[in-house]
Amino acid sequence: MPAKLAPSILSADFARLADEAARVSGVADLLHVDVMDNHFVPNLTLGPVVVEALHRSTALPLDLHLMIEDPDRWAPGYVEVGASLVTFHVEAANDPVQTARAIRAAGGRAGLALKPGTPLAPYTEILNEFDMVLVMTVEPGFGGQAFIAEMLPKVAEARRAIAALDLDIWLEVDGGINADTAARCAEAGADVFVAGNAVFHADDPAAAGAAIKAAAARALAAV
Ligand code: DX5
Ligand code: ZN
Repeated sequence: MPAKLAPSILSADFARLADEAARVSGVADLLHVDVMDNHFVPNLTLGPVVVEALHRSTALPLDLHLMIEDPDRWAPGYVEVGASLVTFHVEAANDPVQTARAIRAAGGRAGLALKPGTPLAPYTEILNEFDMVLVMTVEPGFGGQAFIAEMLPKVAEARRAIAALDLDIWLEVDGGINADTAARCAEAGADVFVAGNAVFHADDPAAAGAAIKAAAARALAAV
């Protein structure tokens, strides 16, 4: 299970997104793109037009994190504009299975996101419809928040569920991730690490990203 790094452009300079993506292109495996609609979360970011422009300006696969109402309606459209992975919040979805199938039918990979207060257990039986599970380690909406350590058991539970079902599913963590918290999440079974502030607010984003990835990889190798 190699560690994958997904720098979050939420913490980047939105006036220079292509340059910011280029700064991390040597170390990032994915570029994490947070879509917020000011309804599901109290913040507003970007939509398909910006995703399409980003896709044209970077070779990195785009890891879309939809924090929006009615993802059933909007999720597949993000594949059309260039997303490789489209993750939506199960709390907002009317029919998560149908939405996952629509993302896959459009040629994308589907992800299931859980807010900190949302348990995994009710969704284990639909995990086979997904390519990734995202365990939020902060309340979604803003970068720069403190990691919620109480989420580590949920990460471990998700890894156990994925293993028990013998599925090839990535397990992503997002929120307050730095070298230290990435290692703790890796020990719990995470293999995709989103980092916003810890990468883009560093003097050298590529070096900061490399340090996070190395810490996670060391922890994963020791599991
Ligand atoms: C928060 C977003 C995160 C955010 C993480 O709702 O989903 O992707 O960019 O930022 P950091 O790493 O600064 O906590
Ligand atoms: Zn995110």
